[in-house]
Amino acid sequence: MYQKITLTSSVSKSQPQALIIALFQEQDKLPRAYQVLDKELGGCLGQAMKRDEFTVASGKVTCLYPTQGADRLYLIGLGSRDTFKYDTLRTGLGKVLQLVKEAAVTRVHTELAPVFNGSVDHAKLGFTIGESFTLANFTFDDYKGAVNASDKARKLSLTVELPKEQLKSAKDGATVGDATNFARTLAATPPNVANPDFIVKQCRSMSRKVGLKCTVIDSKKAKSLGMGGLVAVGQGGSTPPALICMEHKPAKTKANAKPIMLVGKAVTFDTGGYSLKPGGGMGMKYDKCGGMAVIGAMQAIAALKLNVHVVGLVPTAENMVDTVAYRPNDIVTFFNGVTAEVTNTDAEGRLILADALAYGTKTYKPQAVIDLATLTGGVVVALGSFCAGAWVNDSSLHQQVFDAGEAAGERLWRLPLWQEHRDMLKGTHSDIVNSCVGVRDAHPIQGAAFLSYFVGDEAPTAMPKTPWAHLDIAGTSDIKDDKLPFVKGPTGFGVRLLAEMISNWKDI
Ligand code: BES
Ligand code: MN
Ligand code: ZN
Repeated sequence: MYQKITLTSSVSKSQPQALIIALFQEQDKLPRAYQVLDKELGGCLGQAMKRDEFTVASGKVTCLYPTQGADRLYLIGLGSRDTFKYDTLRTGLGKVLQLVKEAAVTRVHTELAPVFNGSVDHAKLGFTIGESFTLANFTFDDYKGAVNASDKARKLSLTVELPKEQLKSAKDGATVGDATNFARTLAATPPNVANPDFIVKQCRSMSRKVGLKCTVIDSKKAKSLGMGGLVAVGQGGSTPPALICMEHKPAKTKANAKPIMLVGKAVTFDTGGYSLKPGGGMGMKYDKCGGMAVIGAMQAIAALKLNVHVVGLVPTAENMVDTVAYRPNDIVTFFNGVTAEVTNTDAEGRLILADALAYGTKTYKPQAVIDLATLTGGVVVALGSFCAGAWVNDSSLHQQVFDAGEAAGERLWRLPLWQEHRDMLKGTHSDIVNSCVGVRDAHPIQGAAFLSYFVGDEAPTAMPKTPWAHLDIAGTSDIKDDKLPFVKGPTGFGVRLLAEMISNWKDI
């Protein structure tokens, strides 16, 4: 890992250790600027392009060693111009970062605009460079020990040169990348350390750093406010549950402007409770990723000083087996007076989100609500693990969330939620149940339907009217293999999407 990455528009007089360019497949003739560059490099690029094995396939990175002008030339393949997505460039830049790190390079010069043939979006390009290098520089080695001591000792910094039109946005990209990496670090922190208390402390100190208001409803207060779901799930945990509230309220926002409310599930470890998960399936430290995405997004929104009023709520609890843990058949009463029988203690995420949604909509009267949660295994069965499931009751909100996801490379796909789904959850001795016993029909939608009882005043008896998006990120919050600029482990899915969405927010 580089200790630090510095973005600059001042170009060093000395020969660059690494020059970074990119090419599309259709480019049999080099763009003018690259022709000039290649001349300075002694023609290595033109020569390489004549070879049979030469390829600029999507995301492929080739390293050439020019005889003059630069020590190394990294060429990012962008594939076909027609199918280009910024994710290809993110992958390429991620690979370049790994390669320069291995080569102990400390200064790189990027020259990527020419590939776009005069139609370059400097802001988007700069943002992508800052974001991708920052994301690819993520490592989590706090818990590497004596075996890896020498790796940890290596300390290098990287300077990245880019055109001055790209500098501001590159810095913004790095800010969002840093916030994503913060979410990934918290997500990766093991459950014996990252308990609800730890998450609370992290939020307080991050909020102090970036200027967010942070208030915490502790479990005593939660009990007195009637947050029966949050209290029940957390009562067997090693530290008590809490509801963390972070607020970004820029001075310039109109007094009557309604905020946007983000809500994220932070179950620091999910054993399933008495409905215990089978041993093989119990790696559940990533069950806090929805909450970590909200924490990262709030950091980014504050650090970018976005002119939008945003509140971030993170209910956090540990779902454990204990003499005082909640049981199947327990009936809990939530903040908004809805009661639910716990038919399955493993459907715990919806219980803690329920109180956060009911409390948040009543307290902040938001113009829109977006919740993120690793809620169901069923969403992965339905959609795979490269996109999140989305339930959105408002077309403008859907457009904003979807567009932000496409731009950030965090994809989502919409699924339905109808009254019939709500009806599936009717209880015998309670209003509703937290999951249909033995019925996996519409599995991820059952989760969305449960949450729909808690969004806004009308929610107990009718579909929510408050614009609301529920994102089930169970499949996307971590990856099993490297997918550069991301490495195996937590992805921080949601941070970049939310930061992008709030950057372009249009009031609903
Ligand atoms: N945290 C899990 C969902 C999950 C599963 C996330 C796999 C990531 C990977 C959630 O709390 C859960 O256990 N959901 C149950 C719901 C069921 C009991 C209604 C599930 O998906 O099986
Ligand atoms: Mn569970
Ligand atoms: Zn869970």
